[in-house]
Amino acid sequence: MRRAICPGSFDPITLGHLDIIRRASVLFDAVTVCVMVNSGKGGGMFSAEERLEFVCLAVEGLENVDCVRWDGLLADLVVQQGASALVKGVRGAGDFDWEYQMACINRGLGGAVETVLLPAAPEYVYFSSTMAREMIRYGQDLRKYLPAAVADRLRKGNEDHGE
Ligand code: PNS
Repeated sequence: MRRAICPGSFDPITLGHLDIIRRASVLFDAVTVCVMVNSGKGGGMFSAEERLEFVCLAVEGLENVDCVRWDGLLADLVVQQGASALVKGVRGAGDFDWEYQMACINRGLGGAVETVLLPAAPEYVYFSSTMAREMIRYGQDLRKYLPAAVADRLRKGNEDHGE
């Protein structure tokens, strides 16, 4: 069985991430979406527990996709899961430069981990978690940016807190 890992900080997961996960689930027998720490990014909007909850909500219904949290090295998770590849989305040259470096580092960490880079679908080229956090802050319609279950969960959370 060929398993792919879709890693990311997912703060929060967007429709662009979900599109990449869906496409990976067609290319591979199984996909593990992994919520991780990006030490290059400062304190985010959501805790690791919340980010994992949102990812799990988003992938509900995708039969060969599961979700985990991993606080260690990505290359170690690849070994633990017996995965064949990492899958990440790229929105342009900037993403590609960065992901290429990451792919080389992960490859060098052992196990000859392969990275598959999927070009973002045109409708999601401008999507990012940074943009999603802005939309959350300014009370925009989140269903345009986030998986529906996540948008609904955030709206309900705000209603429960009387916002
Ligand atoms: O969604 P992001 O922030 O682009 O994801 C980056 C992430 C979390 C996949 C990357 O920072 C990562 O792999 N972190 C785990 C630690 C690790 O394995 N580092 C080695 C590569 S520098």
